[in-house]
Amino acid sequence: MGPIGVFDSGYGGLTILQDLRNKLPEYDYLYLGDNARAPYGTRSFDVVYEFTYEAVRELFDRGCHLVILACNTASAKALRTIQQKDLPTLAPNKRVLGVIRPSAEVIGSITKTGHVGVLATEGTVRSNSYFLELQKLSPETIIEQHACPMWVPLIENDRHTSEAGKMFIKEDLDQLLDKDPQIDTILLGCTHYPILKEFIESYVPKNIHVVSQGAIVAESLADYLMRHPEIERNCTKNSNVDFLTSENVEIFNRKATQFFDSPVHASHVNLGLKFK
Ligand code: DGL
Repeated sequence: MGPIGVFDSGYGGLTILQDLRNKLPEYDYLYLGDNARAPYGTRSFDVVYEFTYEAVRELFDRGCHLVILACNTASAKALRTIQQKDLPTLAPNKRVLGVIRPSAEVIGSITKTGHVGVLATEGTVRSNSYFLELQKLSPETIIEQHACPMWVPLIENDRHTSEAGKMFIKEDLDQLLDKDPQIDTILLGCTHYPILKEFIESYVPKNIHVVSQGAIVAESLADYLMRHPEIERNCTKNSNVDFLTSENVEIFNRKATQFFDSPVHASHVNLGLKFK
């Protein structure tokens, strides 16, 4: 038995972890942020897959039976390969889940105009994962995707509240809404972006619903655990949360409080050296 693993390239997955804890506080969680190698958003398919695979193995080695890729870029570029190619030999009784499908499952039911905008990293947009999932789940929904390559570096470096940072953010929002003025729902398709939610809401027209993924993913995990007792019974329940980062621990602890509302005391982990 072990905690539920939650993985992100950096701090963004903490926004998901916050909602997982709100919804399912009884479980133990082990968060891993690969801050030393973030951002993932502009990296190639192969590199994101390799980094994500290393993180999943680390979490498995530390006792997790279930790992959530709380990162859209990793979900878009690595999830399928890990599920289909790696898990059957590496750990047939363990599971890895992503954040794109649960979000695509609900987004079509939120929009009234049927026009949805997705803001995400370059990697997620280029993978076309949201478009493909929505085509299957809600084919009548029209989706416009827009990559915001500056947003994660701005957030990771704490520059998103500066005037220059806000200018980049406004420019991307304008570009998305120019592509389709009928958009009434914007999905924040990167787990870093909820930290900008308030600012985005204050900038876009009031009729636009800005949706972040945390509550959606938490709802979907609760449902998954109910449907999969064989996985659920391997998840420990002492309400503990532990944190790992591949970067400097003090920096992580300080910055993590922006994304997570309890004090964070992380341990350092070396990724990328063990599995070569
Ligand atoms: N937070 C991640 C996502 O949801 C990745 C951001 C990045 O590392 O570029 O896509």
